[in-house]
Amino acid sequence: MNASPDSHADKLASLSLEEKASLTSGADFWNTKAVPGAGVPGMLLTDGPHGVRRQAEGDDHVGLNASVPATCFPPAVALGSTWDPELLQRIGAALGEEARAGGVSVLLGPGINIKRSPLGGRNFEYLSEDPVLTGELGTALVAGIQSKGVGASLKHFAVNNQEADRVRVSADVDPRPLREIYLRGFQKVVTKAQPWTVMCSYNRINGVYASEDPWLLTDVLRAEWSHTGLVVSDWGAVNDRVKGLAAGLDLEMPSSGGATDAQIVEAVKNGALDEAVLDTAARRVLELADRTEAARRAGGSYGADAHHALALEAARRSIVLLKNENSFLPLDPQAAGRVAVIGEYARTPRYQGGGSSLVNPTRLENALDAITEIASGEVVFAPGYTAAQDAPDNALIAEAVDAARAADTVILFIGSELESEGYDRTGIDLPAAHRALLDAVLEANPSTAVVLSNGGVVQTAGWDHRVPAILEGWLLGQAGGPATAEVLFGLANPSGRLAETIPARLQDTPSYLDFPGEFSHVRYGEGLYVGYRHYDARDIEPAYPFGHGLSYTAFSYANLLATADDGGGITLRVEVTNTGDRAGHEIVQAYTSLPGSAFVRPLRELKGFAAVHLDPGETETVEIRIPREDLAVWHPVLEKWVLEGGEYTVEVGASSRDLRQTAVVGLDGDDLTLPLGPGSTLEEWLAHPTGGPALSAILEDAAASGNQLAAMLTDPEGRALIGNFPLKRLAAFPGSPLTQDALGRLLNDASGDVQ
Ligand code: BGC
Repeated sequence: MNASPDSHADKLASLSLEEKASLTSGADFWNTKAVPGAGVPGMLLTDGPHGVRRQAEGDDHVGLNASVPATCFPPAVALGSTWDPELLQRIGAALGEEARAGGVSVLLGPGINIKRSPLGGRNFEYLSEDPVLTGELGTALVAGIQSKGVGASLKHFAVNNQEADRVRVSADVDPRPLREIYLRGFQKVVTKAQPWTVMCSYNRINGVYASEDPWLLTDVLRAEWSHTGLVVSDWGAVNDRVKGLAAGLDLEMPSSGGATDAQIVEAVKNGALDEAVLDTAARRVLELADRTEAARRAGGSYGADAHHALALEAARRSIVLLKNENSFLPLDPQAAGRVAVIGEYARTPRYQGGGSSLVNPTRLENALDAITEIASGEVVFAPGYTAAQDAPDNALIAEAVDAARAADTVILFIGSELESEGYDRTGIDLPAAHRALLDAVLEANPSTAVVLSNGGVVQTAGWDHRVPAILEGWLLGQAGGPATAEVLFGLANPSGRLAETIPARLQDTPSYLDFPGEFSHVRYGEGLYVGYRHYDARDIEPAYPFGHGLSYTAFSYANLLATADDGGGITLRVEVTNTGDRAGHEIVQAYTSLPGSAFVRPLRELKGFAAVHLDPGETETVEIRIPREDLAVWHPVLEKWVLEGGEYTVEVGASSRDLRQTAVVGLDGDDLTLPLGPGSTLEEWLAHPTGGPALSAILEDAAASGNQLAAMLTDPEGRALIGNFPLKRLAAFPGSPLTQDALGRLLNDASGDVQ
C-alpha cells in the first residue's frame, strides 16, 4: 500500500459509504476488516502488555482461553521497579519481535494508569503511582515495540484506576490532578513516542464516557498533544458508536456484527454525522495499515532462549530488597548450611496476574530448583500452604515448622493470592494461610528471609520487625525463579526500587475514604496527593517509602550541581560512588519543590531519575535533565500549563525519604497575571501591574478628600478586613469612591480583560 496522503484520499474516494463504516470496527474479536478489492488488509491486534497473547482458537478478552506460547516477561508491577528505560526499551523490542513473528500488527499495551489505591485489581499491570516515572518507562516500552514495526496501544486512556464498576463508573477528578497526575504520563508517552494507537478506557471521566469524550479524544489527545495515530476502544467500551466516532474514537473493537456500522451509515445518510468525520476515522485505519505493513509482510522469528534470558535479566533487576538486617543476605552458597525452602510459591511460582494479560509462557522456572542448584548444602522443601487456599492448613504448617527447625537458614515464599482484571482487592493483608505459616516458621527459626510474590502491595507492618530480610519479588514473569535465587545468594545484586509506596495500613492510603465510590461515581478527593505525595504531606510513616530499595553494596552522593538550562528546565549533575565491595546499580532520584508557591503543591515530586551501574570504588557523574514541561503545573484558571518562577529546591538521593544532596535553582516563570474584572478582589486589583496603580490613585485621591471607605481601603488594617471583596461589591457600598464611572475607567485601563 502506498503511504502518501493522496493515495489515502484516492482509496477513500474509491470506497463506498458502507465500506468506510465497516473499516472502523472489528471483523471479529481480534482482527480489523479487510477490503480486498480496494487493497485494504485486515490487521491482528492482541494483548499485551508483558507478553503476546495470541489466541489460536476460542476467543475471549479476559484470558479464559489458551493462547500460543510466548515469553512471559515480568508484568509492569515488576518492570516499574527497575526504573530503567533502557532495559524497558529492550523488552519492548522483544515484545515487538514476538508480535511480528506471530503476525500481530498491534500489541495491546503498555498499560500506564496510575496506581491510585493498593486495592486496584490491575495494579500489577501498571507501572507506578508517579506520573513522571510512568511516563518515562511507558515511552521506552512504546519505542521498543514500535522499533520492530508493530504498533503499541497505550492504555487505558484515561483515569481508569479501579475495576469496581469499571464499565460505567465516573472518575470525578479536579482539573489539576487530572492533568498533573492522571494524564501527565499519557501526555509524555504520546508526545515522546507517538504510539500508533491509544486505547480509550471503559469508564467515564467527570460524567462523560472516555469512548465518546471529544475533549479527551480530540481536544487534548490530538490538538494539544498532536497524537497522529488511531484511537481504538477498549474491548466493549463503546456506549454510543456515532457519538464516539464524532468524538474521535476511530476503531471499535471487537466486532459489533455490523450493527454499529449500520448506525454510522444511517447517521451519515440522515445528516446526523458529517461524512468527513467518518473519512477521518477510516483514513486513520488505512494509515495504521500502512505503518504496520512492512512488518506484516516480512514476518519474522525470535529466539526463545534469548528472550527467556532477557526475561531473567529484567526479573533480577525488578526485585526490591526491602530489608536486610546485619547483612543477612546474600546467603553464602557454601556456608548457608541446611536450607529450608518453605512456601508453595517457591515450587509453583506466582509470576503474573489474571485477565486479558495472561500469557502462556514458553517455559517456566521456579525458585526451588534454582536454589537447589546454587546452594552447596542440603535443600529441603515444604509447601506450607496450597496455592489459592486462604484457610491455614495445620498439617502443612506442622511439616514446614519441622523443616524450619532442622534448618540453618529458612527462605519463606509467601505473598498475595491471584490478582486479576475485573475486580479489585478487598484488603492488603497476607492470606490467612500465609500469615499463619509465617508466624509458625518464625517461631521455629528466626533465621528466615521472606520472599514476597504479589501484584499489589501487601501489608508488612506487624511482622516485618521479626524477620531479618525481605525481598519484594512482585510478579516476575517466567524466569522469576532463578532471578530470585540469584539475588538471594548474591549472584545478582538487587537494584529494584519501589515504584509505589508500601503503606503501614490500608487506612493510611490516600484514597481510603473514597475508593471505589458509590452509585457509579468515584470522587478523587485526595486530589494531587497520590502515593508518596500524600504520605509526605501528612507526615505519615509508610512501611517502605516510594523509591526505596537496598543493595548489597553502598553508594555515596557528592557535589550536586543544579543549573537552569536553556530550555527553561533544570540540568543537574551529581557524583555517585560505589563505596561497597560489589558491583551494582544505583537509581539516582531527583525531586523538586517550590517553597512559597502560589499553587497547592506536594512537598516534593519526582522529576527525574537515572540508573547507573558502578564497580566497587567507581565514581560517575550522573546527569539528569528535568524538562520545563515536567516542572509545569496546570493553571486551573488560565487553563494551561504554566511554569511558576522562583527558587526551586532540588533534592537528590536514593529514595523519596533518603535524600542526600540539595541545591536551589532560580527559574524564570511565565506571566501568571490573571485578567482583571469587576469580580476580581481589591487585593487582586492592587497586585496587578497596571490595574493596581490605577486603583490606588483613585482610592488615595478619594481618601485625601475625606471619603471614609477610601480611607479604610488604603489602610492596611481596613484592607485586611475587606480586601477579599470583589471590586463590584465595594462599588455597591453607600458612599463608595468607586463610582460606575470610575469602575468603567478602571476596567478599560485593565485592558478590557473582563472576567
Ligand atoms: C482489557 C484490555 C485488553 C482488552 C482485550 C479488555 O477487557 O481492559 O486491557 O487489551 O480487553 O483483551
